[in-house]
Amino acid sequence: MSGGVLRVAVAGATGRTGSEAARALRAAEGIALVAAVARSRRGEDLGHALGEAPWDLPLESDVVAAIERTQPDVLVDFTLAEPAAMHARLALERGVRPVIGATGLSGADVEGLRRLVGERGTGAALVPNFSFGVLLLNRFCREAARYFPAVEVVESHHVAKRDRPSGTAARIARVLESAGADAPVPVHSVRLPGLVAHHEVIFGGPGETLTIRHDTLHRSSFGPGVVLAARRVMAMRGLAEDLEGLLAATENPRRASVG
Ligand SMILES: NC(=O)c1ccc[n+]([C@@H]2O[C@H](COP(=O)([O-])OP(=O)(O)OC[C@H]3O[C@@H](n4cnc5c(N)ncnc54)[C@H](OP(=O)(O)O)[C@@H]3O)[C@@H](O)[C@H]2O)c1
Repeated sequence: MSGGVLRVAVAGATGRTGSEAARALRAAEGIALVAAVARSRRGEDLGHALGEAPWDLPLESDVVAAIERTQPDVLVDFTLAEPAAMHARLALERGVRPVIGATGLSGADVEGLRRLVGERGTGAALVPNFSFGVLLLNRFCREAARYFPAVEVVESHHVAKRDRPSGTAARIARVLESAGADAPVPVHSVRLPGLVAHHEVIFGGPGETLTIRHDTLHRSSFGPGVVLAARRVMAMRGLAEDLEGLLAATENPRRASVG
């Protein structure tokens, strides 16, 4: 932090989700968006690349060079699973706290990050969904799992989504299992044009069902959660694995250490 301003770099800044994260971070009070990384369009202004007036922020293609030049506090990453895991390691080795929005990281990558975060005594967040609606869906699911003997998850996404099931659905399944649902909770995946991101959790009991559903209608819904995560990751130790874990770790000082 320099002069009370949180310095944030975004990787994947030209992408469908990373661009919305960059917009929200740029508009947030007390945050300076200091670097933008993508594979292509090196040297082009990010605002221009997004079809807007210039932001005075040239795109870079090398995450290490961007970190060393701009010394961010936090790296927000919306690239893809493999580059995001690598970027997070490179960031942690340079004292930068990662907030990983990319989904589909392997179990080995997650464990490697948890180890590195522990060794460095720092904080990092792996957040499969930044929307407050999904945070609440997880809370409601935990409550419903206490009353219903059976539950399945249906996740539906746009056709360009690479991972299946979605990171959000995989996380919902783990939340349900930890609340007592039989493991593994079945997850069904739908990929169709016209969809953005939709999660449905269907509980079944004698003579009734309960459906808890969340719809992402636009990726701007992720912005407020990204801003919150970038701020909160500075106040925690360990690896938070969703927004709720990050909030819990930073709201209650006795739980300021996770993972
Ligand atoms: N956590 C959440 O709330 C949330 C919400 C939605 C999506 N996601 C996840 O976010 C990720 C991105 O999804 P998206 O739909 O936004 O993808 P996208 O539109 O394809 O954007 C990917 C971005 O990452 C860049 N990129 C890819 N590989 C890179 C590399 N090796 N080095 C540097 N930059 C690289 C791309 O730059 P080029 O175009 O130049 O290659 C582009 O800017 C996915 O894992 C998705 O599941 C998470």
